[in-house]
Formats: sequence, structure tokens, C-alpha cells
Amino acid sequence: MTRTFLVGGNWKMNGSVKSIESLTGALNASDIVEGTEVVIGAPAVYIPLLAEKLRKDWGVAGENCHDEDSGAYTGEISAEMLKDVGAKWVILGHSERRNIFGESDEFVAKKTKKALSVGLKVILCCGELLEEREAGATQQVVERQLKAVIDILPNEKDWENIVIAYEPVWAIGTGKVATPEQAQEVHKDIRAFLSRLISAGAAENTRIIYGGSVNEKNCAEIGRKPDVDGFLVGGASLKPSFADICNAMK
Ligand code: G3P
Repeated sequence: MTRTFLVGGNWKMNGSVKSIESLTGALNASDIVEGTEVVIGAPAVYIPLLAEKLRKDWGVAGENCHDEDSGAYTGEISAEMLKDVGAKWVILGHSERRNIFGESDEFVAKKTKKALSVGLKVILCCGELLEEREAGATQQVVERQLKAVIDILPNEKDWENIVIAYEPVWAIGTGKVATPEQAQEVHKDIRAFLSRLISAGAAENTRIIYGGSVNEKNCAEIGRKPDVDGFLVGGASLKPSFADICNAMK
């Protein structure tokens, strides 16, 4: 099975009705290479608007959800609610959720399981802090984050609707992109880890995308690495030139 290249945008806490109308207008009019899947993650309140305005061949993602269906969780949003208003995907375990809001590996794992159970696809983020890389702990950290998910989703079938986003925290929003070799090395390790813990099939079929200061200038070189199956793009997904990143493999 060949892995379809996937480019995700993660708007984070950015956007307005006006900016979304203007950006979707530009992106909808852009010519995107065939065979690339595109997904955009937006703040939950804008998902209905994005789902309405965005070209229908692109997916819409929530940027987080809770692992419970409903109840006394003020301010939280369930996976089912995201789906109800038009999301087909959810981004989970982003480093900003882990490091600013204190989400544990286990909590991210439970959310992943819940999201899959309601029929959402998941972009599951992992990645090390700068001090962890400098201490030579990159692989250990990423494997710990992924193992928590594998522990409760151990079957190859579970991974058909999960895309792993490797996002080294030191590269996020810093302009300090990982080199293509650094990205390839970690992606290859992740694939080997999936093979050891799940199956050769899961390793072969699971898409592993790179995130961290990707832009229209650096994307092609990273995207050509054999274990890089796409990107998760933050800042550069807020501009019409995001279309150029979607065309990285042209
Ligand atoms: O999820 C995308 C991300 O964290 C990378 O952000 O702004 O460095 O592309 P950015």
C-alpha cells in the first residue's frame, strides 16, 4: 500500500470570520496537485464556518477534544461534538496541549481512542523538547508518547485512521526547522517502533508527517525523505501560500 501524502494546517488560536472567508476563498481557487490529502485544523468555534466554506475535497479538523462523551466539563468539547459540526479529523497531543495545558501521555491516548470510536481520524502529535534532544533522549520521549497510545490501541486496524505528526518542540514557531536528515531519522525510528510494537503492516501503512517551521521554501526537501509522508503546518497555514506547501511534491 502506498501512503498518500498528507498536508495538515493547524491554525491554533488564530483566525476570524473575515480572515477565514478570505483564506478559504484563496485556497479553494488554488490548483493542488492530485494525490495529496489536505486537512485544516481550526478553533472549534470556526469549524462549522470552515466546513461550509472550504473546498469539499479537503478535511476539517478540531484541534483538541475531551475523552468523555458529555457531562460536567466546563469549557470542554467532545469528539462527537466536533463530528456533529462538520469535523472529520482531530489533532491530538499537540505539544502546546502537553506542555502548556499539562496533558499526559495517558490522557492523549484516551482521547485518541474516543475520537476513533466516534469515527474521527486523528493526527496524533509527538516530539521532544530541546533539552531532551540535547540529552540524546529524542527517541525515548517519542516512543514513550506513542507507547501510551499503543497500549490501549494495540491492533493494526486501530492505526488505519491515525496519522502521526512528529513535531520537535524546538522547531515549532521558531523558524528553526529540523534538517531533512533529522526528520528522516526520527520518522524511520518511529516506523521501526510501530513495527516492533504493532506489526509490519502498521509500520508500512501509517503516515508520519513532520511539523515545525515548515514553509513553502523548505517543504520540498523535507518531503522527499522516504519516511516523511507530509507536514503539519502552523504559521504558514494561515496564508494563501499554504497552497504551495500542499504542492510540495509537484
Ligand atoms: O502543529 C503545527 C505546528 O506546531 C508547527 O507550527 O508555526 O512552526 O509551523 P509552525
